[in-house]
Amino acid sequence: MTHLSTIRPVKDPAHGDLTFSLLQFAIAQQAARDLVLRPARSSDEEAVVKLWHDGWHETHAPLAPPELVERRTMDDFRSRIGCRLPLATVAELDRKVVGFCSIKESQIDQLYLARPVWGSGMAQALLDDGLARLARRGVDVAWLICAIGNHRAARFYEKMGWTNTGVVPVMTETSNGPMAVNGWRMERTIDSPEEVRQQDAYAVLIHVGARAHRAHRALAAMAGA
Ligand SMILES: CC(C)(COP(=O)(O)OP(=O)(O)OC[C@H]1O[C@@H](n2cnc3c(N)ncnc32)[C@H](O)[C@@H]1OP(=O)(O)O)[C@@H](O)C(=O)NCCC(=O)NCCS
Repeated sequence: MTHLSTIRPVKDPAHGDLTFSLLQFAIAQQAARDLVLRPARSSDEEAVVKLWHDGWHETHAPLAPPELVERRTMDDFRSRIGCRLPLATVAELDRKVVGFCSIKESQIDQLYLARPVWGSGMAQALLDDGLARLARRGVDVAWLICAIGNHRAARFYEKMGWTNTGVVPVMTETSNGPMAVNGWRMERTIDSPEEVRQQDAYAVLIHVGARAHRAHRALAAMAGA
């Protein structure tokens, strides 16, 4: 097994040393082999519900009003997943669902990654896929709602070219009816689908591949392997 830690990261593969870039490319391909983005299937429902429930309670519950936290049970997430799965892409690592991104009209609706794969680059892959799907539907400006105080997510979106346009009121659905909360509205102008697909594809492969290697190790450690 090649150790990625011995290889310095490529900042700009298009202008880097060719031999070095090809080596990095080969390693990234190997590391990315088991990383799959694919449309969600109905059989993914429980895995996605657990991911969404656990991720929400870790990151959103501390920022949400107690009445909303009370309502966000597994059943609440289960009742809201059905209409989302047909418009969701899942990320799989070693055949385990570790992330998903759903779209709704012109919106990135939900984007969640399992905690061990934060920082792996998979969020970028899922978001790019979501944007490409919106672009193919003719959306020019995508938007999403980020919980106020979810600084990690906001930073992630900003580095992906999104702009925080400020606080807006949102009616969030729950299994007990809608509830009013505030959120940060973020927006991003979308390039054409072709541009989105080709944009930095090489760099993304390297980024995701190299970091997926670390994610593999994190997952193995969590499983006690
Ligand atoms: C939001 C999410 C998809 C982002 O994916 P990720 O893999 O964690 O994102 P990245 O690691 O690529 O980027 C996070 C950035 O925030 C930074 N960051 C981490 N903690 C931070 C904090 N407390 N405040 C500000 N920035 C922070 C990181 O350093 C990184 O920026 P950098 O690359 O410039 O160093 C993922 O964290 C997640 O699933 N979170 C839980 C669910 C969620 O909040 N979803 C978003 C709903 S809107």
